Amino acid sequence: MKKIIIGNWKMNPENLILARKIFSEIKKLSKKFPKIDIVVCPPFVYLSDLKNKIDKVSSLKLGAQDVFWDNPETGSRPFTGEISASMLRDAGVKYVILGHSERRSMGETNEEVNKKIKIALGAGLTPIICIGEKEHDIDGKFFETLKIQIKDTLNKIKKSDLQKIIIAYEPIWAIGKNESESMKGEDLYQMAIFIRKILSEMFGQVEAFKTPIVYGGSVSPFNVKDIISEGHVSGILAGRSSLESQKIAEILDILSII
Ligand code: 13P
Repeated sequence: MKKIIIGNWKMNPENLILARKIFSEIKKLSKKFPKIDIVVCPPFVYLSDLKNKIDKVSSLKLGAQDVFWDNPETGSRPFTGEISASMLRDAGVKYVILGHSERRSMGETNEEVNKKIKIALGAGLTPIICIGEKEHDIDGKFFETLKIQIKDTLNKIKKSDLQKIIIAYEPIWAIGKNESESMKGEDLYQMAIFIRKILSEMFGQVEAFKTPIVYGGSVSPFNVKDIISEGHVSGILAGRSSLESQKIAEILDILSII
């Protein structure tokens, strides 16, 4: 499976000038590493501008950090502050992060994420669906949490659509920490097997094995080798590291040789 690095810029950087600078640096890197897919997910307001920097054939793509669950292709609808899937497509977006724990902590439910997945797929966007437990408790209750998240968010998704989806496993306890507190590759491997098991039960083994799983939670050049080689995942969803082109360069260097 092709490796992928997804950068979730969250509510950064401060202004468009900085966004253009980081994006241009990443664009240069994407030319050096054409075999690795790179997806940058900036705040909504920067998307249309950064779209102009992307060549059609590039391995660098734009992603959004959310989408609204309704898509009024015709007529107007009263959803103040929301952004539709067709607006994102028009802004050059190909991927969309859905169900990030920082949105779930503001009240987003599995049912809403499910509606957003359907809207994104309908618009030809690739959903990056975030799942992850708050705590990796010793009794293993987190398995049940993940199972419910997968079953509910992927409820009634067509089998043929599973290949158009990326699962981002982001344990909440590992986000925003230093690298030594991140998940270890061997533990991640267990989680990746568990996620594929649930996907197999829902969609069959063949489809489950075609679905890319990426890991997010304090990824940096320091731990990326362990995460990919020992965790057996297709790539990473990075927060802070994705805002520093030097770190992205180091991560790409490592990914290109493993
Ligand atoms: P950090 O890489 O900054 O821990 O953020 C992870 C994350 O939440 C990506 O979506």
